[in-house]
Amino acid sequence: MAKLPTCRWGIITTGLISSWFVADLVLPRPDAKAHHIIQAIGASSLRKSQAFADTHLKDTPHHKPALYGSYAEVCADASVDCVYIGSPHGVHARDCLAAIAAGKNVLCEKAFAINASEARSVFDAARRAGVYVAEAMWLRHRPLVADLRKLLYEEKVIGDVFRATSDFQMYVDMKNAPATSRYRDLELGAGSLLDIGIYPLTWALLMLDSKLPGDGNGEGEGEGETPRIMAAQSFVEGIEVTTSIVLHYASSGRQGVVTSTTERKKGASQIVATIDGTDGFVEVEGGAPSHPKSFTVYPKWTGDEKPQGKRYDYESAQQGFIYEADNTALDLAAGRKESAVMPWSETIRVMEIMDEVRRQGGCVYPRERV
Ligand SMILES: NC(=O)c1ccc[n+]([C@@H]2O[C@H](COP(=O)([O-])OP(=O)(O)OC[C@H]3O[C@@H](n4cnc5c(N)ncnc54)[C@H](OP(=O)(O)O)[C@@H]3O)[C@@H](O)[C@H]2O)c1
Repeated sequence: MAKLPTCRWGIITTGLISSWFVADLVLPRPDAKAHHIIQAIGASSLRKSQAFADTHLKDTPHHKPALYGSYAEVCADASVDCVYIGSPHGVHARDCLAAIAAGKNVLCEKAFAINASEARSVFDAARRAGVYVAEAMWLRHRPLVADLRKLLYEEKVIGDVFRATSDFQMYVDMKNAPATSRYRDLELGAGSLLDIGIYPLTWALLMLDSKLPGDGNGEGEGEGETPRIMAAQSFVEGIEVTTSIVLHYASSGRQGVVTSTTERKKGASQIVATIDGTDGFVEVEGGAPSHPKSFTVYPKWTGDEKPQGKRYDYESAQQGFIYEADNTALDLAAGRKESAVMPWSETIRVMEIMDEVRRQGGCVYPRERV
């Protein structure tokens, strides 16, 4: 049996997303594509790193990470193969550039940066340093997405796709959120679009582009088309809280309708995306657009009753971060400097679309004001 690659991770920050990422990596599983080792944890204080390890690694005594009271020490640790960055998106570029300067490979949370210009500066630095950098857009790595794309574009199970919709809802009490909260602080990238709207946007791109990186041989084949964008945004306390986007694909006429709001609580389970085709439709079910758990393929609905569909389930013990982690380990083992699934050009394409949405909607971050 072929030996699995091993990736020794340095975790930067001890917030919510770092805890989810680590929880997935340490769960045992029979179908592992790589070994993951939590090699180091770095936070703004040693006390926080210790508390994180005590909470999230207490049942996994074989993970004995070095604990640091700074991010720089994680980057300086020669035993770390790849740094995982879980800081707020307003400081992603800063944290990526520091890791790259230390010669480290990087997997950085979404949104990858505040805007396309910041993202480009990080990729330029990675190119010069010869290190791997990728955006941790976990949705792209899910087997559910790859299987659904095959059904839509190879088997054409709903005919020609003509529309996709997705909405992400979350409630943030903006008026009472502390000024330091990443949901409130514009320097940290506050706003629904970069935080949650990026997922419905990703659903639209994944469902409407017939060719994408990661479709075929794992070498990043296919390039997405940049759609025309029409967008509106609304604000509370100067923070963008609701974004609506229409995407229009000039080559095919396909449309995406993408919305996000931090003004509404969501249910535990819902339809997180729909895809319409000339011969049928697909509903994707899950906890949120970032967390799809199943999808159902329906024939064309012409009568009164909803037709019978065929359901595909993807429930697993992990939340789903393991797929991006596995793919990062495989990229590194293959010597790639970009993710085969989420290459730099895709991150830039998404950031440019969000730049255009914000240009039309009026969301400007303080550092963008000239
Ligand atoms: N993939 C997903 O589904 C998903 C879900 C949630 C969030 N995210 C992304 O992950 C990132 C972090 O979100 P989160 O919910 O984990 O946030 P969080 O719980 O607030 O944690 C963020 C961490 O960043 C550091 N931090 C906090 N405030 C900071 C500041 N003012 N300046 C610099 N660093 C600061 C802190 O690290 P220390 O521990 O070092 O003090 C904190 O623990 C965001 O970019 C978000 O978009 C992704």
